[in-house]
Amino acid sequence: MKSQFVCQECGAIFPKWMGKCSECGSWNSLLEEVVDKKKVVASVIATEARPIKDIEISEDSRTSSGIGELDRVLGGGIVQGSLILVGGDPGIGKSTLLLQMAHHVAKEGRRVLYVSAEESPLQIKLRASRLEIEGRDILLLSETSLEKILPTIEKEKPDVLIMDSIQTLSTQNLSAAPGSVSQVREITSILMDLAKNKGIATFIVGHVTKSGTLAGPKVLEHMVDTVLYFEGDGSSVYRILRGVKNRFGSTNEVGLFHMTSLGLKEVDNPSEMFLSSTPSFEPGTVVFPSIEGTRPLLVEIQSLVSATNFASPRRMALGVDHNKLVLAIAILEKKRNLFLQNQDIYVNAVGGIQIGEPALTLPMMVSIASSLLDQALPKKMIILGEVGLLGEVRSVPQIEKRLLEAKRLGYERAMIPDSDVKVKGMRIDKVKHVDEVFSILFTK
Ligand SMILES: Nc1ncnc2c1ncn2[C@@H]1O[C@H](COP(=O)(O)OP(=O)(O)O)[C@@H](O)[C@H]1O
Ligand SMILES: [Mg+2]
Repeated sequence: MKSQFVCQECGAIFPKWMGKCSECGSWNSLLEEVVDKKKVVASVIATEARPIKDIEISEDSRTSSGIGELDRVLGGGIVQGSLILVGGDPGIGKSTLLLQMAHHVAKEGRRVLYVSAEESPLQIKLRASRLEIEGRDILLLSETSLEKILPTIEKEKPDVLIMDSIQTLSTQNLSAAPGSVSQVREITSILMDLAKNKGIATFIVGHVTKSGTLAGPKVLEHMVDTVLYFEGDGSSVYRILRGVKNRFGSTNEVGLFHMTSLGLKEVDNPSEMFLSSTPSFEPGTVVFPSIEGTRPLLVEIQSLVSATNFASPRRMALGVDHNKLVLAIAILEKKRNLFLQNQDIYVNAVGGIQIGEPALTLPMMVSIASSLLDQALPKKMIILGEVGLLGEVRSVPQIEKRLLEAKRLGYERAMIPDSDVKVKGMRIDKVKHVDEVFSILFTK
């Protein structure tokens, strides 16, 4: 039998083993998998081509998941026959979210089949009773072999199918181990056939690998219709559901939840989520109005700058991009003559959120300087702006929206890049260069 080597990170296939994948550059990620040519084709259904005009849009093709934040990320509800991948770290709450969804969908009279290849019926029953879900209308199957699951799907004809998780399922079509790229790809393609032909909305749970991507990520991402990532900091109760790809809606949305003993609850006032509960006005604290999806969110950025004991000082970024942090430090040193080479610098976005926005550079710089100089910022102030390598402050999108949200939460002052934005009742400082920022905020 012929064998091939498949990269478990990117899914690239090679005829011989190599220490480093030449596609994605990851080390030690190639795994030998036997190629079995006698593949069973799941179902072959003759289909016909027809004009676009003749295709009917059924009103009913989207149903609510019963969870507003999930609907938002899905683009308005669950689309019939769509294949949705839900990824995230173990323990983040994927099974919880999908069980809660199953409960709501079943209550509306839809048939739901929950296939668990990870947990026993008893474990799921325990979760359901913790979430106060009786589960009278949710069918449960605990099985790992796809060949044993398919007849049940045929028989029960569910409207919504949940497969938890793709990495623990296996098909006899292939001899490769469960969770390997070939297995994951094969199973997904069989499920895709099924979803499309039978109109079953299928949710596939996928675990994330150490490097932070879904196992066999690229292969799966292009096969499915929608990819959602469930993120959050293990130590915080907040969870963010992010749309990474969506054939049926915008990927600009995030769903916000918090984990309670009764399961995931939607967050009522998202902007307050990432401010520490007692807003401090200590040096090092800056409030940054970020945009997540289409919603403004106020996030508290904290910095701690303290003398180092090491030959090369530490730079630690939590929730903010490490490269952006290094850049911010370099600009502070070069343009403002701040001496940071003998200082450890820790920067944290409160609440376990990850911020990738360039508009964070200015608030991050101000926060570092505030800690170093031991000078707190004025109370009730927000700061935003991108900073270029020459110290110039650049404009960022949706400034007005951010300011209005800040005002709603009682902020009275803002520092923004030069623009014609006006918000009544707010004192706004418009800045073009970091020098102006320093002369307004600090006495150095
Ligand atoms: N009694 C409880 N009270 C609060 N949260 C709990 C309780 N039991 C479990 N959890 C939360 O549920 C999470 C497990 O969620 P689960 O849906 O099994 O995650 P996943 O399927 O993503 O691995 C735990 O990490 C914990 O945060
Ligand atoms: Mg789980």
